Amino acid sequence: MKIQMKTPIAEMDGDEMTRVLWAVVKDKLITPFVDLKTEYYDLGLKHRDDTDDKVTVEAAEATKRLGVGVKCATITANAARKPEYNLKQLLPSPNATIRAILDGTVFRKPIAVSCMQPSVATWEKPIAIGRHAYGDVYKAAEMQVPEAGKVELVFSSRGGAETRRVLVADMPGPGIVQGMHNLDESIANFARCCFTYALDETKHTGVPLPVWFATKDTISKIYDGRFKEIFQRVFDTEYKAKCDAAGVTYFYTLIDDAVARVIKGEGGFLWACKNYDGDVMSDMIASACGSLAMMTSVLVSPTGVFEYEAAHGTVQQHYYRYQKGEKVSTNPVALIFAWTGALAKRAELDNLPELAAFAKRLEDATLSTIEAGEMTGDLARLASPKPNKTLDSWQFIDAIAKRL
Ligand SMILES: NC(=O)c1ccc[n+]([C@@H]2O[C@H](COP(=O)([O-])OP(=O)(O)OC[C@H]3O[C@@H](n4cnc5c(N)ncnc54)[C@H](O)[C@@H]3O)[C@@H](O)[C@H]2O)c1
Repeated sequence: MKIQMKTPIAEMDGDEMTRVLWAVVKDKLITPFVDLKTEYYDLGLKHRDDTDDKVTVEAAEATKRLGVGVKCATITANAARKPEYNLKQLLPSPNATIRAILDGTVFRKPIAVSCMQPSVATWEKPIAIGRHAYGDVYKAAEMQVPEAGKVELVFSSRGGAETRRVLVADMPGPGIVQGMHNLDESIANFARCCFTYALDETKHTGVPLPVWFATKDTISKIYDGRFKEIFQRVFDTEYKAKCDAAGVTYFYTLIDDAVARVIKGEGGFLWACKNYDGDVMSDMIASACGSLAMMTSVLVSPTGVFEYEAAHGTVQQHYYRYQKGEKVSTNPVALIFAWTGALAKRAELDNLPELAAFAKRLEDATLSTIEAGEMTGDLARLASPKPNKTLDSWQFIDAIAKRL
């Protein structure tokens, strides 16, 4: 008998090569073993366009309602996609829409296999990154200043009563100026998402995941100082007791000290990053670990809703070759781990130990297949020892199914 589920997962299908492999992963690795319950939302580009993006909003609402979602990679439309898909409009990125509705933070963590060593020799355990995805330089106002003059910050309260001015610079000549902001509530929610993720990972792996946070508060005393203060307050008032019980520690340091420790350390912690730091550092960690297809990615909301996804895009060039009949070697590991993440979370919430054990078996089967030298082309290039042959996506998924 197949493993039973209680509550459905919000399932969001996507585009191009990842859409093709989404169906193969389900058919070969999940539905033969699990009586899969999902609420299906087609976030394929054409369907988003046909529904004026209502389907994306419905999918995000369903994820909120059900508590767990799983999402395939989707195209963010640009001018070139308009004629390709015969679109009415250029809709915003579905990830941004979902993130805004869930008010969530994205966490990324490399998936470790013994035959792929990170470029940083000391890293023994994966480093997870949580990137604050609101404000700072991404919502900044900028201006080119044409001549000498004063630049000031002005605040007018909603009532219009209070106005405050701070001198930014008395500029002796032309130059540039930038103003940025963040919100107390967004910073607090970011901190909540980070501690929620760390507690969740700790429960999932059985190994406490320390939380690190770093800013430049020695220089930016008010702006970064506020980040530091709010993070600490959220920890002390809302999470300290839970973290103490789980063995999860919180550590704050300066960003330059954090970078030095990251490069010299053995890994195995969550690095909570401000928006820009997270943008840069998550790419550094991903590059040092080899491949975006070997990363887990999960959007966590401050209320504890989890949406699992692949960190990479739709692998467009492989899809065009696939359309011409070629058997491409796209790596489905991140898609598989999106599913196992969602199934394991559902198992935890609904108290289904058999489903939890299945998710773990599928992850183990995937990793042991790679470690036995059966892998897709992107990994074959990086693996040591080099495998004798590279598998296409279908052969690789079959090899996992055989082990499973
Ligand atoms: N999470 C998402 O939904 C998401 C994220 C990024 C990009 N996108 C969309 O994906 C489309 C393609 O974007 P892109 O080319 O910048 O990103 P991409 O991640 O699809 O590809 C970037 C590079 O990495 C390689 N690559 C990525 N995933 C791979 C895998 N699983 N196996 C083997 N190689 C892999 C690709 O061949 C390519 O060289 C765009 O339409 C973009 O909007 C979606």
